[in-house]
Formats: sequence, C-alpha cells, structure tokens
Amino acid sequence: MTDLSNTGIPLHDLRGQAEAPPLYRALRKYWHPVAYAAELLDKPLGVTLLGEPVVLARLNGEVRAMNRRCPHKGTDLALGQIVDGAIECPYHGWRFAGDGACVRIPAREELTGAMKVSTSCFRATEQAGIIWVALEEPVYPCPLFPELNDPAFRVLQGDAYDWRTSAPRRLENFVDFCHFAYVHDGTIGSRANPRVEPVKVWREGGVLRFDRSGVKEPGVGLKKQLLGLTEEWIEPTNAYHVTMPATVHLKRTFPNGKRYVLFMAACPVDEFTTRSFWWQARDFGVEPVYDQFFMDFEAEVLAQDKPIIESQRPLWFHVSNAPGAEREIPVRGADAVTIEYRRWLAEIAAAGNAP
Ligand SMILES: [Fe+2]
Repeated sequence: MTDLSNTGIPLHDLRGQAEAPPLYRALRKYWHPVAYAAELLDKPLGVTLLGEPVVLARLNGEVRAMNRRCPHKGTDLALGQIVDGAIECPYHGWRFAGDGACVRIPAREELTGAMKVSTSCFRATEQAGIIWVALEEPVYPCPLFPELNDPAFRVLQGDAYDWRTSAPRRLENFVDFCHFAYVHDGTIGSRANPRVEPVKVWREGGVLRFDRSGVKEPGVGLKKQLLGLTEEWIEPTNAYHVTMPATVHLKRTFPNGKRYVLFMAACPVDEFTTRSFWWQARDFGVEPVYDQFFMDFEAEVLAQDKPIIESQRPLWFHVSNAPGAEREIPVRGADAVTIEYRRWLAEIAAAGNAP
C-alpha cells in the first residue's frame, strides 16, 4: 500500500475504495479552473488536472492546453519557452503549435513533417479571470462572474489554496448551511442559531440554483460600519449559483441594497488534492484601504473550514447505490441543498461511466 509521504495515511483510507471513484473519472467532461488568467503570461505554465499533466500557453493570442510531456523524451514542456507561436521543449528544441502538432525537430529538420508527431491537446478558455480546461468535450458552459468587469464593484483575487479533499467535498462545504453555527460561530454563524430551514433548489442549465434569506448573522464590526448598518443582527439575501461540478457564485444583498460577492471554483487536481481559485467583490467600502480587512475575514473563515473538511473520509463521498457504497446520512430539509447537489453528482457519475 502506498502512503502519502507527508501524512502517512494509506491512499485506500482516503479513497474508501480500491480504485478512483466513478465520479472522479466522469469529471473529464467538465470545465475546471487550473490557473488565474493573470498567471499565464509569456511563458508556458504547468498544471495538473484530474491527475493529467497539462501545459498552458498563450499562442498567437489564444489560450492553449496540451499534454505537458514531450513525446520525444518525456520532458516537461512547462520548462520550455514560447517561440514563434509554439511551445519549444527545453531539452531538444522540438516545437509544438497550438493544435499540438510538432512543427520543428531541429536535429533533423527534414523529418519534421514526415514523422507526424503531435502531443494531445485539450479544450482551454479564459473566463472570470481564470483559465479553464476540459479534458473531454464539456457538458456545460464555463461559469460566469459578471461582477469582475463591473465598475461598481471593488474586485479582489484571492490566493489559490490547496486542501487535501475532493472537489465535491470542497464545494459542498461552501453551500452546507448546517455547519455555519458550529465551524463559524462568531464569523458567519452563531451557535445560538443552529436551526436551518429548507430552501427551494432547482436547476438552470448546468447550474444548481437556490436562495437563502431570513437568517440572522452576527454583524462584524468594520463590515457593519462600512455597510452603514446599526442592527446587532444582519439578515442578507443570499443568491447561489453552483455551476456543476464545483464552482459557486454567491451574491449577498444586504437590507440597504449593498452587495458582497464570492466566486469560488474548485479544481480536482488529482484524487487527493483540490485547489480553490476565488474572487471577492463588494460595492460598499470600496476604498483599497479596506481590502485587507475583507481578505483577512475570508482567510479566517477558510482557516476554520480547512481542518474539518480535510478530516472527512472518504475524500470522495459515495453518490451511487453500488454494492459496498456506504451513503452518508442527510438531514431532511436542513440538507436540502447538499442532497440535490449529490443527486446531480450521482447523475454525472452514472452518465460519465455509461458503456
Ligand atoms: Fe465553512
């Protein structure tokens, strides 16, 4: 049994099963975030998606993604450079154009066309300030983040962070209302108010939709002051858009109409690692001097979640009724969102593994 070098935890314990779960394998047909757009400049950038080594580059103005391993000697193309609209391998100078075709073999120029060499290409696009890749034809369009270019909002890019969990567990944590009172007592929830009322959940294209309002939250000092609110408890309206499989857009509208937006996109780097890319946007207290306060607030919330979510086993919760699959036990009504989210994931897993 292989151990994870930094934890000593057997992979089998993290998986809860012998092989990669069906849902993991099905995610090849979806867009996933792999880097911030601002990170991808004039050099190739190496990332990992669903365990696949991928190199990103901007070639002739287009975002491109291809297999990171040079087919010649297995070198990492992310160590190379961009020359004449192609990625040049750092080892022997082979060049790969945007369609993955090898267009130069310097040691024998005359063999370049005859050898018909190429590296596999993947679909790639830029949206919401993020580079997205789909390993196979994607089922749904990329998620939207309309506030990114809205001048009414002050928009901040968060630092990407890695959690040792699956992308569905990371996403579910974001929309799991029942944990606010316990994990986030005093920040976004209160132990004094643990009850969770059901919400209506519905689908719009590839988006799971639900709204939540009428929930009293503790008004945190400076935020309340910047909002111009004086009440001890604040009751915002929260509109959620979860683009399947693991991106969430949350728009919070306060009683005075002011808005605060969180956009979080979780990448299944591999079976055991999830990298979250995120933005926050606000249309109150927009002066840059307040940026640190808002970033610190989100960092505190994330620090509260991380050890809890990393403790969950297996990393990929079971979504099917297959023999041996031990389903977790939801609370009717209170877990309405996560029940519907898992129901959809079960459909994705079943469709992705249909013969
Ligand atoms: Fe949380």
